[in-house]
Amino acid sequence: MSVSKVSLNFYTHVCEAFEEYLHKAKPRLDTFHPFFEKAFWEMLENGGKRFRPKLFLAVLCAYEENTEVVHACFPVALALEVLHTYSLIHDDLPCMDNADTRRYHPTLHKSYDETTATLVGDGLNTYAFVLLANAPLADGIKVALIATLAECGGIGGMVLGQAIDCYFERIQLERIQLEHLHTLKTGALIAASLKMGALVVGARAEPHLPQNLFAFGLKLGLFFQVRDDIIDHTQSPEESGKSTHLDTFKNNYVNLLGLEGAQDYLQNLKGELLGVLQAFPINLAFYLQTLLKELA
Ligand code: IPE
Ligand code: IPE
Ligand code: MG
Ligand code: MG
Ligand code: MG
Repeated sequence: MSVSKVSLNFYTHVCEAFEEYLHKAKPRLDTFHPFFEKAFWEMLENGGKRFRPKLFLAVLCAYEENTEVVHACFPVALALEVLHTYSLIHDDLPCMDNADTRRYHPTLHKSYDETTATLVGDGLNTYAFVLLANAPLADGIKVALIATLAECGGIGGMVLGQAIDCYFERIQLERIQLEHLHTLKTGALIAASLKMGALVVGARAEPHLPQNLFAFGLKLGLFFQVRDDIIDHTQSPEESGKSTHLDTFKNNYVNLLGLEGAQDYLQNLKGELLGVLQAFPINLAFYLQTLLKELA
């Protein structure tokens, strides 16, 4: 067996262990509220690709072979998934995309009500930072992780992107503006996931790794959102697990370039990503390539 296959097994097992950890990590809420505790973790339990934690873990596994050390960083991976899940819950609200289905289940505001969905999203957003603050890592690393997630998940990324996405419905953006929108709303958090891996491995990696991975992550996020635009156009809710055909009046790549144009662009981006990947250390390149292939 080649070195890469041995290490791919390690990475795969780590991702499986993270999934188990996530289900056991449901926080207890000391409350007489009849269902908020159940609602709080429900959308995490409903599944998803776990793409952002898997990116973080890919970086970690490329530099750290000790299983216990890797598992100790699961709260950081979970913080990424928790913040991402909040963004989905709010994205689906009637005031945003008004979606009925997410992760093969009814959206939270459909299962419960808008108030619950809004507050679960708020609670997940802040809980992500509780997870980071309490992670068993050096304080300096934790401050850097908190700053990165807050910036990229907030006004330096996802939140600003969502504001632009919603404001410019029915107003056509230029191609360069659409790229900016997708890079903000989706790319920033994906880039943060990789950079946070580099921040945790710290001095074990080459000094430019955080910024190189961040730049790669922004392009990966653009790829991810172009792919998502195509899914909205081509897949049913049964296939994708979420409400689709909602982007009619949105700025997205299918609306701008047509389906074939968007598919061509997606392939171009994939080629560029596979090229850039080669500059990363071999195991890291291998894990990221595996994740990219899973999206095909
Ligand atoms: C959906 O994200 C929202 C986008 C940024 C496109 P994912 O496609 O990662 O959704 P899950 O986590 O697998 O449900
Ligand atoms: C949402 O983009 C990106 C987020 C920041 C949540 P979309 O609105 O296209 O995501 P889906 O298609 O609902 O998953
Ligand atoms: Mg949206
Ligand atoms: Mg949406
Ligand atoms: Mg979409």
